Amino acid sequence: MSVAAPAERFRWLLDATAMAIVGVDDTGHIIMTNRQADRLFGYPPDALVGHPIEVLVPEAVERAHIAYRNQYLLDPRTRPMGHGLKLSARRQDGTEFPAEISLAALETDDGILVAATVHDITERVAAERDRERMQAELDRSRRLESIGQLAAGIAHDFNNTLGIMFGQVEVLLDDMDELPSLDTPDARAELRAGLSRIQEAGKRAAQLTQGLLAFGQRQVLHAEPVELDQIATEAARMLSHSLGGRVTLTTELNTTGRRVLADRGKLEQVLFNLVINARDAMPQGGRITVSTESVPLTDEDAHTVGLPPGPYLSLRVRDTGTGIPVEIAERVFEPFFTTKSEGQGTGLGLATVHGTVQQAGGTVLLDSRVGEGTVFTILLPALKPRPAPPPPTPNAPEDLSARRAAYRILVLDDEVELRDLAAQLLRRSGYQALIATSGEDAVEQARTTDVDVLLTDVSMPGMSGPQTADAVRAVRPSVQVVYMSGYARALATGEDVVFIEKPITKASLLKLIDGVVGIRPA
Ligand SMILES: Nc1ncnc2c1ncn2[C@@H]1O[C@H](COP(=O)(O)OP(=O)(O)OP(=O)(O)O)[C@@H](O)[C@H]1O
Ligand SMILES: [Mg+2]
Repeated sequence: MSVAAPAERFRWLLDATAMAIVGVDDTGHIIMTNRQADRLFGYPPDALVGHPIEVLVPEAVERAHIAYRNQYLLDPRTRPMGHGLKLSARRQDGTEFPAEISLAALETDDGILVAATVHDITERVAAERDRERMQAELDRSRRLESIGQLAAGIAHDFNNTLGIMFGQVEVLLDDMDELPSLDTPDARAELRAGLSRIQEAGKRAAQLTQGLLAFGQRQVLHAEPVELDQIATEAARMLSHSLGGRVTLTTELNTTGRRVLADRGKLEQVLFNLVINARDAMPQGGRITVSTESVPLTDEDAHTVGLPPGPYLSLRVRDTGTGIPVEIAERVFEPFFTTKSEGQGTGLGLATVHGTVQQAGGTVLLDSRVGEGTVFTILLPALKPRPAPPPPTPNAPEDLSARRAAYRILVLDDEVELRDLAAQLLRRSGYQALIATSGEDAVEQARTTDVDVLLTDVSMPGMSGPQTADAVRAVRPSVQVVYMSGYARALATGEDVVFIEKPITKASLLKLIDGVVGIRPA
């Protein structure tokens, strides 16, 4: 048996792994690849050696990649590449595939060597897309179901309204036959009154259908500042038609003007699911109360409910129904868990509620007593109250700085000049601006200071923009994130991402930040 040389053994070990590994020197040239890498990228063995690593990068992001590579060499630590961004790689035939890449550096006499381990995640991405599609499909079908429920309730009211109209018309027709003369003041007054009643009923019918149409057309969009009381009022009005005669619905709303960051359509759906559950729990009739409240969560309360401390708004649906036994209460949020008979429930109502609320940085609490009733409480991070708009000054362009003064923007960029500039532009326009020098610094400041918006660079040494955003949201969930970048738009394709392209101009920056915090010229 021959004894292989160390280099040969190493080569054998390298080729035996299922991972594709590419070694690069500090000028960005490939110095070695293993068999998996050659196969993954579609090159003959060793054909890649000597080429710049950018031959494996999609053309659109080549320049960005060179910048990233240089930045990595300044702080070469083992870490995943482009955390939070969607990366892709290019095969020899020009086709691209989504990739997860991790980097490891080695300092040698010949300079820093970097090993990139490349993982083809085509299948995972496809699976994720499938899941998202199914979720969207589910959202849509729940919505259709809700519209069905609402339509049934509204059809009932609509019928009553039509009844009024037909009845009035009949009375008027009779009058025409029976009144001696239509040309007296009394007869005219009577005619007018009858016609007005028809007109009123017609208006009411139009309102009913308009509400239904608005609900039906509301697409699932994205998180935006929404007034909780407004959603509760509208949803309650719509739902009041679907409850049947023995169930009453009242609202006790105490968060006038206060807003949360949520998808309006989904939040309506949450309320809808809770109210319909409450109705179903009261077959003999009863009372449903929808209430809202401002809830400042102290450290201790916050710990109990598993949320970061801070201001929250609660949305509560209380019923006087059957209540939920403990052994069932443990399972109600599970998808497909239902106690209703076949065809009556899918068991997805509360799972949807839970998903939506969590996505918005909140939580759902359940309190129930068998035979007495049930309370579902939703807590959502509160956005800062909107300052009262200043009295309009005719003809002069509106000065928005007073309204901007209520918001605090945290600016993070590793380039001193850039972050100073952005902060200065913001301050001059009325905003409060804070400067963070690193991701860690940003998180620390957000922990101790009430920050409304994080304006951050995307790729930085140390914590990246998306990493920082995640960490800041963990301590201050109501923060809205805006990325500024010269090139990362090509790398990041997430849909919810708010971007401003460098170079930043005052006009573009203000337009974006004003929009994010909800300031619009009057
Ligand atoms: N207010 C309530 N009072 C009593 N039981 C409730 C209440 N809300 C939910 N439940 C219980 O939780 C279960 C799960 O609720 P969920 O909304 O997830 O599904 P579902 O109402 O059964 O079906 P779907 O909402 O899909 O029509 C219900 O079947 C019921 O047993
Ligand atoms: Mg339900």
